[in-house]
Amino acid sequence: MKEKLIQQFQELYKGEGEIRSYFAPGRVNLIGEHTDYNGGHVFPCALTLGTYGIVRSRSDRKLRFYSANFERLGVIETSLDELVPDPKANWTNYPKGVMWAFEKRGYKLSHGLDILIYGNIPNGSGLSSSASLEVLTGVILKDTFGFDVSMVDIALIGQDSENNFNGCNCGIMDQFASAMGKKDHAIFLDTNTLHYEYAPVVLKDAKIVITNSKVKHSLVDSAYNDRRNECETALKELQAVTKIASLGELTEEEYEAHKDAVKDAVRQKRAKHAVYENQRTIRAVEALKNQDVELFGKLMNASHESLRYDYEVSCEEIDILVDLAQAMPGVLGSRITGGGFGGCTVSIVKNDAVDTFISEIGKTYQEKVGHEAEFYVVEIGDGAGTI
Ligand code: GLA
Repeated sequence: MKEKLIQQFQELYKGEGEIRSYFAPGRVNLIGEHTDYNGGHVFPCALTLGTYGIVRSRSDRKLRFYSANFERLGVIETSLDELVPDPKANWTNYPKGVMWAFEKRGYKLSHGLDILIYGNIPNGSGLSSSASLEVLTGVILKDTFGFDVSMVDIALIGQDSENNFNGCNCGIMDQFASAMGKKDHAIFLDTNTLHYEYAPVVLKDAKIVITNSKVKHSLVDSAYNDRRNECETALKELQAVTKIASLGELTEEEYEAHKDAVKDAVRQKRAKHAVYENQRTIRAVEALKNQDVELFGKLMNASHESLRYDYEVSCEEIDILVDLAQAMPGVLGSRITGGGFGGCTVSIVKNDAVDTFISEIGKTYQEKVGHEAEFYVVEIGDGAGTI
């Protein structure tokens, strides 16, 4: 892959000079959904799918970007003096946003770059292609300019760029997983403190299978921001009766004791999800540590139920996939993963059931929805870096 992309880079940009190569992965979240902006826990892992970047320094302040995924867009040119969001700049708003966020923190980019990008995360699948592009840009800048930033800083800078340059009010999970991933491990992250722990993903005789519904409903970003606002309002209402800084601080019992402070039935459901999902995530990680994969799977099913009925971020196509999976022998658990309203499910499937899972669910999904689903048997990879 790397050699092919370097060759493409040379043919495209010509010229001389040292060429460097980088990779940042996408992620799948095993459990802990819509908890990262509520001060709760998440449990994602990095994929071996992700975004590659081939880079050469320039002596002027020009930036040239090319994506092998969007060949028709050709080379998109800008400069370090034009780091402002621009709809015409298309996907390059992500790397530009990260450059902007570095400069905002006082890290001066002293010269321009030629960059070629290629990503193998299916677009719009909810497996964090944009976060991987942000983290990729972070490692490019750290390495090129020798900035003294940690990988956690790079995740935070990526989130800042997404929130304040690209207008999506996301939490820290995706960038953190891409920057901090570890082969064969998931990251148990407390988003309140950024304290984290790596947990080996030992599933005995089972595998993680991602199913891509290949649907992405519109209004994803606005519905996401609505959920955030609902949780923030619910938190304020709860703060009138109990001393908490985030919903993640409540146990289920504490929430039940105080829930009447939340004056709207929809907001009560949203806050309930945030509290219960956080506690479920803590319990699920404990179950995995105890090698109780069955319990881990049951908690994944409960997570989906809560996302479907209380948080209302699922959709018909995803529910079809999850219902089919949960009803199939050899499936220990299945749920929607990521922001929602389409995208992917994640399932734990016994090794000897994986082939049937793919063929049976593939067939029924196609019949019911009218297009194919895609399946990926997951390998958990390392976080971003040079390659
Ligand atoms: C998106 C966001 C994350 C997180 C998930 C939901 O992926 O980018 O920060 O909130 O949705 O768990």
